[in-house]
Amino acid sequence: MPIRSVVHDPDADLGAGGRYRSTNPARTGEVVAEVDFGDAGTLVAACRAARAAQPGWADVPAPVRGRAIGHAGRIVEANAAALARLVTAEVGKPYAEALGEVREIVDTCDFFLGEGRRLYGETVPSEMPDKQLFTFRNPVGVVTVVTAGNFPVAVPSWYLVPALLTGNTVVWKPAEYAAASARALAEMFVRAGLPPGVLQLVFADGAATFKGLSDALDAGLVDKVGFTGSTAVGTAIGELCGRHLQSPCLELGGKNPMLVTPSADLDLAVEGALFAGFGTAGQRCTSLGTVIVHESHHDEFLAAFSAAVAAAPVGDPTRDVLMGPLLDAKFADRFEEYLGWIAPHHTVSGSTALGRIGAAAPRAGFVGDPGTGLYYHPTIVDGLRPDDALFRTETFGPIVGVTTYRTLDEGIALANAPGYGLSSAIYTTDPADVFAFRRGISAGMVSVNNSTSGAEAHLPFGGNGRSGNGSRQSGRWVLDQFTRWQAVNWDYSGRLQKAQMDVAELTADLDYRLP
Ligand code: UN1
Repeated sequence: MPIRSVVHDPDADLGAGGRYRSTNPARTGEVVAEVDFGDAGTLVAACRAARAAQPGWADVPAPVRGRAIGHAGRIVEANAAALARLVTAEVGKPYAEALGEVREIVDTCDFFLGEGRRLYGETVPSEMPDKQLFTFRNPVGVVTVVTAGNFPVAVPSWYLVPALLTGNTVVWKPAEYAAASARALAEMFVRAGLPPGVLQLVFADGAATFKGLSDALDAGLVDKVGFTGSTAVGTAIGELCGRHLQSPCLELGGKNPMLVTPSADLDLAVEGALFAGFGTAGQRCTSLGTVIVHESHHDEFLAAFSAAVAAAPVGDPTRDVLMGPLLDAKFADRFEEYLGWIAPHHTVSGSTALGRIGAAAPRAGFVGDPGTGLYYHPTIVDGLRPDDALFRTETFGPIVGVTTYRTLDEGIALANAPGYGLSSAIYTTDPADVFAFRRGISAGMVSVNNSTSGAEAHLPFGGNGRSGNGSRQSGRWVLDQFTRWQAVNWDYSGRLQKAQMDVAELTADLDYRLP
């Protein structure tokens, strides 16, 4: 039985966009799910149904909505192993990481369970007597969320949980190559007690999604868009939303730098670079892009980093490996293009070969059978120059660049040069370096002696420049994405008191000086 969209409109055509197969990237012959795609009209129908359900959901008291979020967290927790296995099967994420991803949903639900009982507004003093000022957070309305498949369940939960908690209804279009994981998560959320229509799931390809989103915005059915994915698509969504005076929540790519300073603990830096660069096969938006190492440490760092990458276990993601396959064939194809950017002035290390792992290009110590999946050699490219495409562009996949710097200012300028600004890291034991880096780096997230990836679920997550439009997810900061402040003033004096004009003033002797 193919899996289908969940749209609370009896007339919605759930199969209008044809059939898609979501396959296991570790065993590409294995179909994880057959998926019926909807089309643009399916997305519009889902938004219309979400619009109809929204006032009723907003009427549910926030603490009661919070309980539903809490229940979702408990259901996810009780199904953690099964959901993690599904994520591993569908996108090839090593099982331990998949379990961590599921944990991130539970953490998010735990945080927002309590927010249902807070969701504070304020009482504010008025400049006049017998008058009181207040602020309230109102839901924006219908939120349409489009997500990538590298974090097929955790990153969607960063949108779904706060959007639902604050009284919005949600239409979610997940990555097609992670459809089964998405379907499982949506099912758990609905079973947490969400009334019909509050959360809708739409499977569709990119073109149909964009058209559907545009049509739904034209019809006034969408109040907020959330998007996690590439800078190119995020730019198009930003343009589209701008035409409707909306500012979407955009979480885009990164070219995340790691500075290794003269005082750094090099073993720690190598360990951090290994996980940041090659965990999730380099397919996190927070994955390490370029190591910018002080010239005094270059040779020592590169030798140790290359040895660590060469020794890292690569292979079957159900076993104990650092990295498994790429997410899907389209990412593998794109990764091969990035490998084509390696130039004669570069030096490659970390593996015995380049490109796809297989009989013709084996990797020592490979765990399992490389022939069945989309496995690639992890690759370090040394000698990057600021005008190299490899230096300037996000290269989603298991490739890390290395370059050198002399002064800290030069290092920070190199770290900012590609124009992204998601995450960043500095390895140092000198507090002055830390604060100079923190001030100078354009990134929304800064790690000190830690990986560029692995942000905790209750700190603001998001980027600047080519990484996003400044929106932040997670923790209390995300509330500003899914609510609008409403300011209320209530005059109970029984007369018209005019602000700024009818305000009492105490007399002060401003010419007074101490004798
Ligand atoms: C992403 O790749 O889109 O900080 C999100 C991290 C994870 C989330 C990554 N907690 O690496």
